[in-house]
Amino acid sequence: MGLYLNVMVTVASIAIASVWLAVVKNSPLDPLPATYPSRPKEEGVFAHNALLHGVEKIGVGQVSGPEDLAVDSHGRIYTGCSDGWIKRVETDGQIVNWTYVGGRPLGVVVGLHEEILVCDAYQGLLNVTEGKIQVISTEADGLKYKLTDGLDVAKDGTIYFTDASHKFDLNQFPLDFLECRPNGRLLKYDPSTGQGVGGIG
Ligand SMILES: *[C@@H]1O[C@H](CO)[C@@H](O)[C@H](O)[C@H]1NC(C)=O
Ligand SMILES: *[C@@H]1O[C@H](CO)[C@@H](O)[C@H](O)[C@H]1NC(C)=O
Repeated sequence: MGLYLNVMVTVASIAIASVWLAVVKNSPLDPLPATYPSRPKEEGVFAHNALLHGVEKIGVGQVSGPEDLAVDSHGRIYTGCSDGWIKRVETDGQIVNWTYVGGRPLGVVVGLHEEILVCDAYQGLLNVTEGKIQVISTEADGLKYKLTDGLDVAKDGTIYFTDASHKFDLNQFPLDFLECRPNGRLLKYDPSTGQGVGGIG
């Protein structure tokens, strides 16, 4: 009985050690405990409403995963698709394959010179004019972007944008939720100097 128990304890210890090695030690995660705010009451801006009932759907089946949209001074709508295309909805509703950027274009905004500025999850911050792609920023403070996500442009041309994570890319983003660490950054890019990217949060 004593020997049997010893064997069992040894086997169990080896099993636990193997699981620890496989799962915990080799895990890419360095997690913190998760704490979430409580769910807000369904009132005020959170109240149920029917504002999106009866909307007109544009580009059904022609734009895959349109993540964000931007409207230029002619009223044309740009959106980044999961197939790597920036597609444009003309004012007559027709959809054109505007410019292929590859990657995964997420945030889009119209810049001060009517260029389309794009946060591409895999490529960084892009400046896109029809058929022409310029990568304008891929890292800040020595840390490469892994998931460039949303952006806006100020009146003076400064581009404010986010890198949702410097650790996990778009394919791995559920790991970022599990890790619960602040791996994202709010950044800015000053086009007048062509550089000056710095984390501001
Ligand atoms: C536009 O791109 C889609 C793929 O996203 C393709 O199926 C379609 O043929 C293209 N249309 C034109 C007119 O090139
Ligand atoms: C984007 O490129 C165009 C020329 O292709 C240029 O006029 C514009 O200033 C550039 N914008 C930024 C923010 O670099």
